[in-house]
Amino acid sequence: MVEELKKVFIEKFAATPILVKSPGRINLIGEHTDYNDGFVLPAAIDKYAYVAIQKREDKHINLFSVDFNEAQEATLPELTTEGKHWPVYILGVVDQLLKSNYALTGFNLVLCGDVPIGAGLSSSAAVECATIFALNELFNLGISKMEMVKMAQKAEHEFAGVKCGIMDQFASMFGKENNLIRLDCRSLQYEYFPFYVPGFQVVLMDTHVKHSLASSAYNERRAQCEKGVAIIQPFFPQVKSLRDVNLQMLQQYVFPVDELVYRRCKYVVEEIERTVNACTDLIKNDFISFGKKMFQTHEGLSNDYAVSCKELDFLIQQVKDNPAVLGARMMGGGFGGCTINLVKENEAEVLIEKVSKAYQKETCSALSAYKVTIQDGVSVIDNK
Ligand code: GLA
Repeated sequence: MVEELKKVFIEKFAATPILVKSPGRINLIGEHTDYNDGFVLPAAIDKYAYVAIQKREDKHINLFSVDFNEAQEATLPELTTEGKHWPVYILGVVDQLLKSNYALTGFNLVLCGDVPIGAGLSSSAAVECATIFALNELFNLGISKMEMVKMAQKAEHEFAGVKCGIMDQFASMFGKENNLIRLDCRSLQYEYFPFYVPGFQVVLMDTHVKHSLASSAYNERRAQCEKGVAIIQPFFPQVKSLRDVNLQMLQQYVFPVDELVYRRCKYVVEEIERTVNACTDLIKNDFISFGKKMFQTHEGLSNDYAVSCKELDFLIQQVKDNPAVLGARMMGGGFGGCTINLVKENEAEVLIEKVSKAYQKETCSALSAYKVTIQDGVSVIDNK
């Protein structure tokens, strides 16, 4: 893939590019907690967005996507977001750099990748992180990784219109081979957890369902969480986010005012606590308890937070009582995408085949399964 990318770049722009790759991510537990100042437990995976880039002397930006076979042009400082979808993530980070007064000239950029799009694996964050990391290298901007994470997140808010939390961009930048990262989304302190479950592996099952309403529903969930906080604040002024809230506060103050908001907040408060406890399970090598918590998370996401869909629920139903599966749940923003499953290595193939058949029968569409490994975050690719 990298050779092909380089070839396309040289053909189009007659120069040798800098090459950067940035991974997609999984998240073991801690879903919809990042924008509530909670904890998450993501990791970078062996699926990447790849960027080839080189400077221009003028103010022109030429973008080309190998996967879509499409080009897009722009001229600094006017960056339009109209038209195609994929350039939004690239121009969004350029916009952030300009807003922070970094000196840029134009550039040529070719993009490709193998992070499945719309599968809940954060292909957009991978593109944002690859782009900002590449620009930082190219123009020698000296921006720290954490600053780049924040700028990439803001690009998603302002150009893609999704008020996402920090998890995806963080995982794509800070991933570490064979480690999960416990990130405290309030303090941004993080800790690596070696992740090795003897005899088990991570299997993702992709529904291929992509709901067009996913981003507006995501923003709506975020607003519901903020509403819950606003209801509680007059009684507890120290409460700044759902991280500071407990179930009793929700029951007493939110439930009587807005039952729907209560259910949304209840899920988040429970999930923040569950994630902390899941990390204790990991430290104790208690993978059975860890797996159980993944199933509980799915219940909460499906029933209270209402971000699942019938295809995801079906997949969880299929593996729930299977002793080859320690834990499983829908992953990412929701309304489609993948489930994440901790599956016995030597039974994974049989399970995938069985679930694929059942899925085909139930939904009349095909399932894809990915056995993923945990890898390092963003990096420059040796270009020799
Ligand atoms: C999306 C967002 C993340 C996070 C997850 C849900 O992936 O980009 O910030 O909120 O959904 O956990």
